[in-house]
Amino acid sequence: MTDNLLTLRLRRMTWEAEGVLSLDLCAPDGGDLPAFSAGAHVDLHLPGGQSRQYSLCGDPADRKTYRLGIRLVEGGAVTSMVHRQLRPGALLDVSTPRNNFPLLPAPHYLFIAGGIGITPMLPMLREANARGAKWTLLFCVRRHEDAPFLAEARSLGGDVVLHASALGTRLDVEARLATVEPDTQIYCCGPEKLMLEVETHSRHWPDGSVHFEWFAARSRPEDEISGGFELVCARSRLTLTVPPDKSVVQVLHDAGIQVPLSCEQGICGSCECRVLEGQVDHRDSILSTAEQLANETMMVCVSRAKSPRLVLDL
Ligand code: FES
Repeated sequence: MTDNLLTLRLRRMTWEAEGVLSLDLCAPDGGDLPAFSAGAHVDLHLPGGQSRQYSLCGDPADRKTYRLGIRLVEGGAVTSMVHRQLRPGALLDVSTPRNNFPLLPAPHYLFIAGGIGITPMLPMLREANARGAKWTLLFCVRRHEDAPFLAEARSLGGDVVLHASALGTRLDVEARLATVEPDTQIYCCGPEKLMLEVETHSRHWPDGSVHFEWFAARSRPEDEISGGFELVCARSRLTLTVPPDKSVVQVLHDAGIQVPLSCEQGICGSCECRVLEGQVDHRDSILSTAEQLANETMMVCVSRAKSPRLVLDL
């Protein structure tokens, strides 16, 4: 094990729903794994150099096991390798847990999960129980058999409502979120369409009460304006030019300034840098609206500048 990469043994693979496997990973010597909190994820590195982020969906109190839920995506190289080639006993490199989706204290929670988006919610349901909070889980799937971990979610004692679009019980997001529920935090993870619907129909909820976990970069308009700008690295005393066809991180790396990178899609938080001057054109899926408006940090893998000059604490 290194500081941020663990080599773990795949102990068990279990079918959780049609096309969804869970993987139980443990230390080869059976020892304790680094602790994680509800909402955390790891990067799973596969033979061949590919890696993807997956939520830890097991019980944080179980220090011996990391459990991941992985849905087979047709044409997806990583999920196809997991489903078709990995077998128990394999050794896999996994990053130490990171949490961009922490569960804030609240007396009430509304969890909105779409399909495999249930995975970060499972430890959250347990944590909400431990805090004595009330919770409702709206679990959106196409068919009943597409709902992984449903029995487990139901066993945790809160209010679980299954919305199966093929059965005509699709969640009406606008109606459900129309009335602001006081002291309630909303957590949402699922397909982009569901997340965008929740984002749109929760705008009248208090700032900081709605949280999203993105596992793929959100789609952006093809013709989004992406001009060049000047980039000043204050600590390195370097002034660089970011052309329209290069990312900030590419320009930094070309200049010999190394920034930690993982997803390169604005969804993991590895490359977050402090902003000293200038207006950021935020294109990540991590910072909340309030954090983006605060303009204090940016994800340099995807975000750019709205102003002609940007000064970073690098
Ligand atoms: Fe993941 Fe930038 S590398 S957010």
